[in-house]
Amino acid sequence: MGPLSAPPCTLHITWKELLLTASFLVFWNPPTTAQVMIEAQPTKVSEGKDVLLLVRNLPQKVAAYVWYKGQIMDFHQFITAYTIDPERIIFGYAYSGRETLYSNASLLIRNVTKQDTGSYTVKIMNRMEETKGVTVHFTLYPEMPKPYITSNNFNPMENKNVVALTCEPKTQGYTYLWRVNGQSLPVSPRLKQPGKNRILILANVTRNDTGPYECEIWDRVGSICSDPVTLDVLYGPQVPRIFSPFNFYLSGNTLELSCFVDSNPPAEYSWTINGKFLQSGQKLSIPQITTEHSGLYGCSARNSATGRERSTFRRITVVGPCHGDLAGSHSQ
Ligand SMILES: *[C@@H]1O[C@H](CO)[C@@H](O)[C@H](O)[C@H]1NC(C)=O
Ligand SMILES: *[C@@H]1O[C@H](CO)[C@@H](O)[C@H](O)[C@H]1NC(C)=O
Ligand SMILES: *[C@@H]1O[C@H](CO)[C@@H](O)[C@H](O)[C@H]1NC(C)=O
Ligand SMILES: *[C@@H]1O[C@H](CO)[C@@H](O)[C@H](O)[C@H]1NC(C)=O
Repeated sequence: MGPLSAPPCTLHITWKELLLTASFLVFWNPPTTAQVMIEAQPTKVSEGKDVLLLVRNLPQKVAAYVWYKGQIMDFHQFITAYTIDPERIIFGYAYSGRETLYSNASLLIRNVTKQDTGSYTVKIMNRMEETKGVTVHFTLYPEMPKPYITSNNFNPMENKNVVALTCEPKTQGYTYLWRVNGQSLPVSPRLKQPGKNRILILANVTRNDTGPYECEIWDRVGSICSDPVTLDVLYGPQVPRIFSPFNFYLSGNTLELSCFVDSNPPAEYSWTINGKFLQSGQKLSIPQITTEHSGLYGCSARNSATGRERSTFRRITVVGPCHGDLAGSHSQ
C-alpha cells in the first residue's frame, strides 16, 4: 500500500523527467581544514538539463584539481583537470565535451544523459603534493510517466453497471493510490482493488460514486498524479412529485403546478390532463381557468440516458363562481 496519509495529489512534488540525485562520500579529510564537500546543484536534475558539481571548502594553496568519472582515479576515467600555475585546463579520455571546469574546482555537466549516472571523484592536490579525493555519486532514476485513467464506462447506470477504472500504464515497482474528490479512497467491501490497486472495481455503482477520480503512482523517489477523470453516474427518475398550492381552484384564477424528481441527467417533464398531452416543461401554468380545467393532472418524468420514465397524478378541481360550497366566500 502507498502512504495513505500523504497530502492530496496537488501538493506532491512531481517530476516528469529523469532525476539525478547525489550523495557524497568523503574519504580523506585532514583535521586542520573544513571538510571538502561536493554538492550537486540542483540535487534533482532532469535529463537534458545541466548539473553543477559544486566544490565547497576548497583548501588553501591548491595546485590542481582533477575530475574523474567513477571512484577510481584512473587514467581512462580522467575527465578534465585544472592546474593553477601555470593556469591550464587539460581534457582526458572521459571528457565528453559537455563538461566545464571552473577555476574554483566546480564542474558543470551540461545536457545530462543516462550515461552520466554513477560516481564522480575530484582529486585536489596542494603544493606539498598532498592529495585529497572527494567522490560524489549520482543515481539516475528511470522516468516516471504521468499516469492516466481509463474506464470501461464513465457514465454508468446506478445499481446496474460495474465500473472498472484502470490506472495506466502498467509498470513494475509502482504502488498505485486512488483518490475520489481529493480524498483517499474509502475502504469499503464494495470496492475491490485487484492487481496491486492498479484496477479499481466499483461493483453496483451508486450516485454516491459520482466524482473526480485520480490515480497516483509511487516509486522509491516520489509520486506523480494523473489528471482527474469524472465518473458521472446516471440514475433516476423515481416517481416524481407534483407541487401545487391547492387542490381546489376558483375559476378565473391561474393554475400553477410544478413537478420535480431527482435524476441524472435532469428529467424531461411533460404534463397530461385526463391522459391527454398538455405540454412539456417542469412547470404548468394556465391562466383564467374554468371548470373545464378540472381533471386528473399527470406529470411524467423521463431520463433519456437511463431510459426510465415515471409518472404521478394529482386531481385538481376548479369551482365556478356560483358553486359556493368550497370557494363561495372567496368569490363574493
Ligand atoms: C564556482 O564557479 C561557478 C561558475 O562561476 C559558480 O557557479 C559556483 O558558484 C562557484 N562555486 C563556489 C563554491 O563558489
Ligand atoms: C542533449 O543531448 C541529446 C542527446 O544526448 C542531443 O540530442 C541534444 O541535442 C542535446 N541538447 C543540447 C542542448 O545540447
Ligand atoms: C446492487 O444494489 C441494489 C440496490 O442497492 C441491490 O438491490 C442489489 O442486490 C445490488 N447488487 C449487487 C450485485 O450487489
Ligand atoms: C448516498 O449517500 C447518502 C449520504 O451518505 C446516503 O444517505 C444515501 O443512501 C446514499 N445513496 C446511495 C444510492 O447509496
